[in-house]
Amino acid sequence: MSRCAVRLLFPTAVFLLPLAALAQQIRATPNGLTATEDGTTLEVTALQADKLRIREWRSAPPEDASWAVLPASRTSRATVAADVRGFHTDKLSVEISTGLHLIIRDHHGNVLQEDSTPVQWRGETFHIYKQRGENEHFFGLGDKPGPLDRAGQEFTMWNTDDFGWQESSDPIYKSIPFFMDVKDGRSFGILFDNTWRTSFDFGRESAQEYNFGSQGGPVDYYFLYGPEPKQVMASYAWLTGPAPLPPLWSFGFQQSRYTYSPASQLLDVAAHLRKDKIPADALWLDIDFQKNNMPFTVDPVGFPKFPELVQQLAKEHFHLIVIADTHIADKPNAGYVPYDSGTAGDHFLKNPDGTTYVGKVWPGDSVFPDYTQARTRKWFGTLYKDFVADGVSGFWDDMNEPAVFRYPSKTMPLDTQHRIDEPGFAKRTASHREVHNIYGLLNSQASYDGVLALRPNERPYVMTRATYAGGQRYAVTWTGDNSSTWNHMRMTTPQLINLGISGFSFAGADVGGFAGSPPADLLTKWLEIAAFQPIDRDHSAKGTRMHEPWVDGPEQEAIRKRFIEERYRLLPYMYTVAEETSRDGMPMMRPLFMEFPHATADGSPMDLVTGGAEFLLGSDLLIAPNPSPEEVAPYELHLPPGTWYDYWTGARAGTRSVVQTRDSEVRDSLLASQQTMLTPELAKVPVYARGGAILPLQPLVQNTDETPNGPLTLRVYVPSAGESCSGTVYSDDGHSLNYRKGDFFRMNASCSVSADGLLSVTLDPAEGRYKPWFKQLRIELVGSQRAPQRASIDGKEAALASTGAVPSITFDWNAKGSRITFQ
Ligand code: NOJ
Repeated sequence: MSRCAVRLLFPTAVFLLPLAALAQQIRATPNGLTATEDGTTLEVTALQADKLRIREWRSAPPEDASWAVLPASRTSRATVAADVRGFHTDKLSVEISTGLHLIIRDHHGNVLQEDSTPVQWRGETFHIYKQRGENEHFFGLGDKPGPLDRAGQEFTMWNTDDFGWQESSDPIYKSIPFFMDVKDGRSFGILFDNTWRTSFDFGRESAQEYNFGSQGGPVDYYFLYGPEPKQVMASYAWLTGPAPLPPLWSFGFQQSRYTYSPASQLLDVAAHLRKDKIPADALWLDIDFQKNNMPFTVDPVGFPKFPELVQQLAKEHFHLIVIADTHIADKPNAGYVPYDSGTAGDHFLKNPDGTTYVGKVWPGDSVFPDYTQARTRKWFGTLYKDFVADGVSGFWDDMNEPAVFRYPSKTMPLDTQHRIDEPGFAKRTASHREVHNIYGLLNSQASYDGVLALRPNERPYVMTRATYAGGQRYAVTWTGDNSSTWNHMRMTTPQLINLGISGFSFAGADVGGFAGSPPADLLTKWLEIAAFQPIDRDHSAKGTRMHEPWVDGPEQEAIRKRFIEERYRLLPYMYTVAEETSRDGMPMMRPLFMEFPHATADGSPMDLVTGGAEFLLGSDLLIAPNPSPEEVAPYELHLPPGTWYDYWTGARAGTRSVVQTRDSEVRDSLLASQQTMLTPELAKVPVYARGGAILPLQPLVQNTDETPNGPLTLRVYVPSAGESCSGTVYSDDGHSLNYRKGDFFRMNASCSVSADGLLSVTLDPAEGRYKPWFKQLRIELVGSQRAPQRASIDGKEAALASTGAVPSITFDWNAKGSRITFQ
């Protein structure tokens, strides 16, 4: 295809000119342009200087509506300047040439994205082809298994109940058509906002191209420029909404099983956790607590006194989460309120002939809420009323792909009818083909909004299995029915990192594996690693052996408990990191390239060296599990540039610079000279703290209701010369929405080291109205080059203590800000 056609653009507000020679009409608008050629129109709109929306259509423009993108962002507009090639904003330049050929560049002229061919249409199916650079990598797309980097692979988005999925399984539960492209040290994000069955090919068909396409629906995608990965994350949160801050208790340890039944079994688990002093905050009930597996019921035989059970658990400081599958049992005339009220309100999906669609799930014949009607979501939300009144803390939206048994497709027929009746959308009937991938998202929206309406000002806690882009606004998630194998444990890291990049910072995997029975060492190792992941929930399938931390005897239990305890000590840090997600979309669990995008000479993500085995929790802790966890051979540790300390011992773990170059030989020699070998041990997970981090920690508690007894520790990891040093601690009441109205606490701290090794720490005045639990602060120094002899607070001498090689001071904290000096 020729790329040398003359292009003209007109710097007037709205201008229309037919260019006969090119058969192309270009219209400049204040916010972008439209170009029409051979009956196809391409529209590029700048939402902000670094964010574009790109749409293309053949006859009339498709409906401008979205389930994923926030209306305010979708309708946001930035003013652009037209130029001879197209237009530019303060951050990007856009060029369109013959064939509606689109090129997006940064301001240095670097091509960020360029079409490879015109959009390829076959009937309603289309594919968008982009050129792919040699060093172009792709992340995101939700929980899809496989390597962290999606390069060289292809994927399908079609929410699927895939019990026992494996490393090469695709699709599984979620459709999050968002990816981050990292090329030569520059990043951008693409949200392909199309709910139909979509596909992504990141260089499998041809190494020189990548493409994404759909079986129907609109050509509609968003380009979110970085160039830093963190900017892409913030832009994605701006576009689709950040995940709201979950309650504090949800960062505690959670124990689940399919199913604890009868109630006495659940109480035994609760009692055992407390007796053995294994910190824990939440217990989960799966479908067998229901009467005949009917959602929104309670089995009167196994759970005769359900409200009392919830209260009893609450007294022991356990939050109870119950399952609430999306289907409703097809039980007319049985006094089953969800069915009766749903039928009376005409809330169920229909067959093409207008009869109610019925499919089999756990309770047998079932009907399915028609969530694309706002009024149906509202009705579904009311079904939580009794559970909320009983004091149930959270809800588990399962089977919402939607899963339907006995069809090879594992879901309902594609011609099932959904009625769209929603503000901002044209009222119409859509087929399941179009709605399938958003069914889980809308289910979780119904739950979130419903629970919030029933308990206003309390943070709803909903966990969903299926979802779509934007679903993070309503629910946390998990990776579904994984297996009890070493490889599945290993895969949790790339899966959770990619989920975080896809907006789902608050995510976990069934600890110990769902299908199958983990050997003792596997369960131990899994509990160790999960202690550093956003959601730490041990769950297992019916018929497998029990998974609770004590099941393999005291030695294993002691190790498991030690890691869960460490999680509780780290809660101030975890919660601070979680709150960051809720503001700027930064995932709790991060790939190394997100914090260190320039760690390699050629700008490729440094995670390619670790194969995605290492991860960061927030910006300051690096966790380095064995990339081949079933093997006992030593493995390589790759630390990003800068100073790192062993989190467990405080020992300096090394300062290193670049770890990779484009030239593989040089790279190998660099790696050889800079690598540190780690020897795997059952009772250990290597964790490192960044030099210059100020890490908030608390005394051990058994649950998050308990007020920690003692000071808040700020552990300062002494930076090397030239490194910055800072940290934050965030706190609030842990459960209400008052933090949005100023009832929060935030304190920033920083440190500096003078030329003669003098370290001083500055505590900024507290922000927000909330009074945190601590009255005292303890400042610890890890890694000071010389032992301080004296310390002072705001010029007054303070008592210096020391534990091993870690000097510290403890003092009454005045919230006003202080300067602490170690001499
Ligand atoms: C499938 C879910 O993935 C699993 O976690 C749950 O235990 C079963 N459904 C039973 O509800």
